[in-house]
Amino acid sequence: MKTSTVLSLGAVLLCCILVTQAQTPGCKCNTLFDGQCNAAGGQPCTCTMQIGPDTKQVNCNKLISKCLLMKKESLPAKIGRRVKPEGALIDNDGLYNPDCDNGTFKARQCNNTDTCWCVNSAGVRRTEKGDKNKMCPELVRTNWVIVQMKRNNTDQVSEADLKQALRTTITSRYGLPDKYIDNIEFEEDYIFIDLKQNSSQKAANPDDVDIVDVAYYMEKDVKGMNLMHADNPFKIPINSKNFLVKEPLIMYIDEKPHELSMKRLTAGVIAVIVVVVVAIVAGIVVLVLTRRKRGKYEKTEMTEMQQQLRS
Ligand SMILES: *[C@@H]1O[C@H](CO)[C@@H](O)[C@H](O)[C@H]1NC(C)=O
Ligand SMILES: *[C@@H]1O[C@H](CO)[C@@H](O)[C@H](O)[C@H]1NC(C)=O
Repeated sequence: MKTSTVLSLGAVLLCCILVTQAQTPGCKCNTLFDGQCNAAGGQPCTCTMQIGPDTKQVNCNKLISKCLLMKKESLPAKIGRRVKPEGALIDNDGLYNPDCDNGTFKARQCNNTDTCWCVNSAGVRRTEKGDKNKMCPELVRTNWVIVQMKRNNTDQVSEADLKQALRTTITSRYGLPDKYIDNIEFEEDYIFIDLKQNSSQKAANPDDVDIVDVAYYMEKDVKGMNLMHADNPFKIPINSKNFLVKEPLIMYIDEKPHELSMKRLTAGVIAVIVVVVVAIVAGIVVLVLTRRKRGKYEKTEMTEMQQQLRS
């Protein structure tokens, strides 16, 4: 064999090896559409996400935390765009550039300005805004998330089938253990999913995915903006057909009463987009109760509500 043939054979072989490594099966970012994963040189698969100019190492086999996703989402809009005219308002659905601490929201957020406020573990504002001296002694946990959506499907499906399909989608797609799916209810075209995970459960199972992250991915999914790898589209399969949903609305209930005044709450966008409750949980639960006319809401939750009212 000529040396050149040997060399080119070697090159082809090397090429094949490199290609194989680049495409190591399973080494891809399952939970983020533009996450980058690499297993070169026989190393374990490691993944990164791009947040503005920064590259951050992430675990692509688990949901990326809402704080990191929001940060990523908030950044591109600031680069290479014209300066907004003074007084211009942006309806950003509560989106800001959050400070994250190991993936979780820092209790105090300032959105890179001199105005600061306190948020819950979902990153939703739960106090009035203040200046740089605003104190937020602790990150209050959101222990109950209500995911509301509407069906966009006229197919006749049984409630039991739809419930099961939703449970399966939530547990398999987002990796949320079933025990955190507290309840699923239907009211006309509306679907209500209650996710509950309190501090003690979170402390006992720190590796479990957080209900807040599940709600964020699900909200995007229902809006048709899949955050996951393109080969993993959002589906709620029932009888081998995809059940369609639309118009997601997420409500957050914290372990401690929020400190927003009711007046501001009704005035602000926050009231439309996001409802952080506990002190006014009564109002919301009553609202939810009236919507769920069939009165299936369980007594335990009534008791919880009464306790929260008393505290
Ligand atoms: C947390 O939730 C679990 C399961 O629902 C419950 O048994 C426990 O009492 C709750 N803990 C607190 C502090 O609310
Ligand atoms: C709802 O379904 C209709 C008909 O299938 C479709 O045209 C429409 O885009 C859907 N809307 C949403 C928000 O998914």
